[in-house]
Amino acid sequence: MGYSELEKIKQSAFKEIGEVLDMKSLELWRIKYLGRKGKLTQVLRSLKSLSDSQKREIGPQANSLKKKLEELFTQKNQSFKTSHNQRSSFDISIPGKKITLGHLHPLTKTEQKIREIFLSMGFSIVTGPEIESEYYNFDALNIPPNHPARDMWNTFWLKTQINADQNADKRGNISVNQRKNPHKSALLLRTHTSPVQIRYMETHQPPFQIIVPGRVFRYEATDASHEINFYQVEGLMVGKDISLANFKFIIEEFLKKLFGNKVQFRFRPSYFPFVEPGLEVDIKINQKSKIKNQNLGWLEVMGAGMVHPRVFEAVHYNPRDWQGFAFGLGLERIAMIQYNIPDIRLFYSSDLRFIRQF
Ligand code: FA5
Repeated sequence: MGYSELEKIKQSAFKEIGEVLDMKSLELWRIKYLGRKGKLTQVLRSLKSLSDSQKREIGPQANSLKKKLEELFTQKNQSFKTSHNQRSSFDISIPGKKITLGHLHPLTKTEQKIREIFLSMGFSIVTGPEIESEYYNFDALNIPPNHPARDMWNTFWLKTQINADQNADKRGNISVNQRKNPHKSALLLRTHTSPVQIRYMETHQPPFQIIVPGRVFRYEATDASHEINFYQVEGLMVGKDISLANFKFIIEEFLKKLFGNKVQFRFRPSYFPFVEPGLEVDIKINQKSKIKNQNLGWLEVMGAGMVHPRVFEAVHYNPRDWQGFAFGLGLERIAMIQYNIPDIRLFYSSDLRFIRQF
């Protein structure tokens, strides 16, 4: 036993650990040198029988070799563990995470389709504010205060100083000048998209044709075809000699482009203060409802008519020079027919089982 033996052990241990390629041979290496009967362990055990001076010479060397071999073992062991972990995180046989893509809401799809159709017929797209003044929402559209037609549109009024003053004044006792001044008019959530007709005509000269998609609000009870918050698309075409025949042509084209030839529609006489004559359009498609055995019948989808001369006067057009038609359609009602949806409330229910079907 001596220095040369330790040196031999060191050399072979170093050489062999360099050739170790897996955990199993690493363990064999450990047993060979550091195990209970391992080469180095035997050397350390035999130190007892050596003389004091030999002990002092060999002892520290043998101990430091032991430390060194243990370090080599730990390092190698560690490197196997990390590479094993890395390999498992790159395991191509593990199924990937499924990325679920979002998609457009059915109402957005319907609105986009409607925009496309009207753009293809030469209409421009215009928008207006959702918080509107009483002047644009009612007065300029020939619906004066206290007119019974105001009840057609149950209104959300905003809490503002002007509204408070008017209430104190028992609504309706406001001077006409104050009402005609849009800046002094009370504020509300628009009940229809028709006020944008006025805003557009105030700043443009005919001839033109526009559509106005937008959100509207009504303070009313909800049911399968009524919501308190819904969307309308307003249409307005003004020019020389525009007549109801033009309206019928445009609407027929629009409905056919949207629903194909299977669509049926009918005009019913109706009343809106801002048109004369006024009408409503119902449509029907021969398809079965999603509710068993229920046929979707006629559904009212829009109000329309020829622009009232008083409306032209409010925007300083001469009604003798210009004629026009206007319409306001309910977007949800169109989407309900398009996708065969039996209840308008489903659109806003946030129920993913419903939304994912489109
Ligand atoms: C109007 O709002 C008029 N501004 C339409 C108009 C424009 C007439 C231009 C003449 C000229 P009405 O309140 O009927 O009219 O509403 C128009 C459409 O909106 C209805 O045909 C219907 O499709 C839809 N609608 C009305 N109320 C609701 C509601 N509570 N929920 C969902 N859709 C509704």
